[in-house]
Amino acid sequence: MRVAVIPGSFDPITNGHMDIIHRASMLFDRVVVLVVVNTDKNPAFTPIERVLLIEKATKEWDNVIIDCYDGLLVDYVERVGACAIVKGLRAVSDFEYEFQMALYNKKLYPKAETVFMTTSPKNMYLSSSGVKQIAAFGRDISDFVPKVICDEIMQRLNQKKGE
Ligand code: PNS
Repeated sequence: MRVAVIPGSFDPITNGHMDIIHRASMLFDRVVVLVVVNTDKNPAFTPIERVLLIEKATKEWDNVIIDCYDGLLVDYVERVGACAIVKGLRAVSDFEYEFQMALYNKKLYPKAETVFMTTSPKNMYLSSSGVKQIAAFGRDISDFVPKVICDEIMQRLNQKKGE
């Protein structure tokens, strides 16, 4: 069975992530969307909240599962026997960081390949941080995040504003 891991912060998941997850689910037998807990960042959603949102948004896709992890990515990849780490690339700005990560990961665990997928043109500009800023100012984010979790995301980000 060919397993791919799609790691990220997903704080929150956007339509850009959804597109990459869906396309990967057609290429691999199983796709694990991995919410990686990054202690450097100050997230809007807890890891469990992010897992639940992604589960809801991807529930139609049978071979997609969601997990949460706070270690080194390659250790997880080895543990689940994945052959690929899938990443979406938006533009030149993503490339340098992703290239470096891919080389580290290849060095640490040569059995897995990093597979880059070009983001669909309609999602080129989307980012979780952009979505958070727009929602914090009370503007509609329904074009940027999955419809089924849009209200939940909006509610939380508005709540944060009022804290
Ligand atoms: O969505 P993001 O924040 O761009 O995702 C970055 C992420 C979580 C994929 C990256 O930070 C990561 O892989 N973190 C786990 C720690 C690790 O394995 N780092 C690679 C070697 S330096």
